[in-house]
Amino acid sequence: MPSLGEPRALFDAPCEGGASAVHTEDKRVHVKTFGCQMNVYDSERMGEALGADGFRNTDSPEDADLVILNTCHIREKAAEKVYSELGRIRAMKVERQRLGRDTVVVVAGCVAQAEGAEIIRRAPVVDLVIGSQSYHRLPALVARIRAGEHGIVETEFPEEDKFEHLPQRADPVRGKRAPAAFLTVQEGCDKFCTFCVVPYTRGAEVSRPVEQILAEARRLVAQGVREITLLGQNVNAYHGRGSDGRPCSLAMLIRALAGIEGLERLRYTTSHPRDMTDELIDAHGREPKLMPYLHLPFQSGADRILAAMNRKHTAAEYLALVDRIRQARPDIALSTDVIVGFPGETDDEFEATLEMVRKVGYAQAYSFKYSPRPGTPASTLDSVVAEDVKAERLKRLQDLLDAQQAAFSTSLVGRVLPVLLERAGRKPGQLVGRSPYLHIVHGDAAPELQGSIVPMEIVEARANSLAGVIKGL
Ligand code: SAH
Ligand code: SF4
Ligand code: F3S
Repeated sequence: MPSLGEPRALFDAPCEGGASAVHTEDKRVHVKTFGCQMNVYDSERMGEALGADGFRNTDSPEDADLVILNTCHIREKAAEKVYSELGRIRAMKVERQRLGRDTVVVVAGCVAQAEGAEIIRRAPVVDLVIGSQSYHRLPALVARIRAGEHGIVETEFPEEDKFEHLPQRADPVRGKRAPAAFLTVQEGCDKFCTFCVVPYTRGAEVSRPVEQILAEARRLVAQGVREITLLGQNVNAYHGRGSDGRPCSLAMLIRALAGIEGLERLRYTTSHPRDMTDELIDAHGREPKLMPYLHLPFQSGADRILAAMNRKHTAAEYLALVDRIRQARPDIALSTDVIVGFPGETDDEFEATLEMVRKVGYAQAYSFKYSPRPGTPASTLDSVVAEDVKAERLKRLQDLLDAQQAAFSTSLVGRVLPVLLERAGRKPGQLVGRSPYLHIVHGDAAPELQGSIVPMEIVEARANSLAGVIKGL
């Protein structure tokens, strides 16, 4: 799984060869994705919508008639990356113009939602700014730009449900789908943590209806998908409408999805501690398809900071929750998000964060220096922590988290784990897959095993992956 803020090359095979008989013109799109898994999913869906409109995917922006930046606003650095990228695209557009070819430039995602028309003022190369609830309108809007319009801003939250208007997940005849897929089930957030832009960029919590999700999952499975990660900014607050019209919880949704034959693994992310219900915790003990890995951000180990963050849980409540989860599923691997240097954080409060990490023991974690975001309540606090203090705290925290990650990976050496083989490795004869605990696992394997779950003995733990040998096939 990508860490938040890590750009991902997109999208895989589904859009390859997407030009239909009706669209004879060769049109190419390049999508660059920043930010979280939800943006990765959105980029895939945008690509598929454009694929149905005759666009083929290209990895090189120089070849693209349409360049889309799917952006992230979570921290200042993430948002600023967009503008440096737009500088490069501007130069590229000029170069293409010299060759008589035009380039349509689109900014989508959370920066688009947060900054709207300001983006075009700052970077006039941008033709279209589109929010994350409107991308079903992308093909029509791109057509308007190709017909001569410029500077369209589409960031209202539309009445209609974009999922109802998007084409179905791209057909397998267009290429083989990777065996692990994302599926967004919930969008937006009502929690309003005081540091976070998501409630503003993604809006209020909305859950997709159960039938819509099941239909998409069945289609993905028919296309070769074996593992689905259910996505939501606050996924365990999921409360979509069931076929009987009644609200359905994430635990109920997981049970329904587990009934799909051929779907072998389920995961979900990201969860808020406050929404970890007993029913969902029980599901970790009962449902074998639910993988023993849970991302559960705690942000800070100090109650005063947690209250200032409006996290709605204390350190003790989080620890009690971890105990209950581990009772239900003793081998569960936990991961988390942590912020250091929230305004007013003292040395002792930072020590409480380190203590939390020591008490829980994480298999994986993402840690960040607090970054003030425009429009959020925390950005108006003046008890700012100095940059060098933040950097020093982050280093200490990351050293501890790295040591825990290494200890967990090393403890698996000698164990045989089921690995879902996802793709070809860099070395010939190798495939790369995922352990139940989400490690990347490399090993020698015949290409036809891609998409299978095989038992692998873990023979080596590396910094960010494991090496394995297939057993007993
Ligand atoms: N919905 C998820 C995560 C959303 S953002 C959740 O509630 O856990 C992902 C992570 O980015 C957060 O968990 C937080 O650790 C970090 N983050 C969000 N806003 C931030 C900010 N202003 N500065 C630094 N880190 C931030
Ligand atoms: Fe942001 Fe908090 Fe919502 Fe997570 S729960 S998306 S950190 S407001
Ligand atoms: Fe970034 Fe938006 Fe995701 S701000 S982390 S891309 S929800």
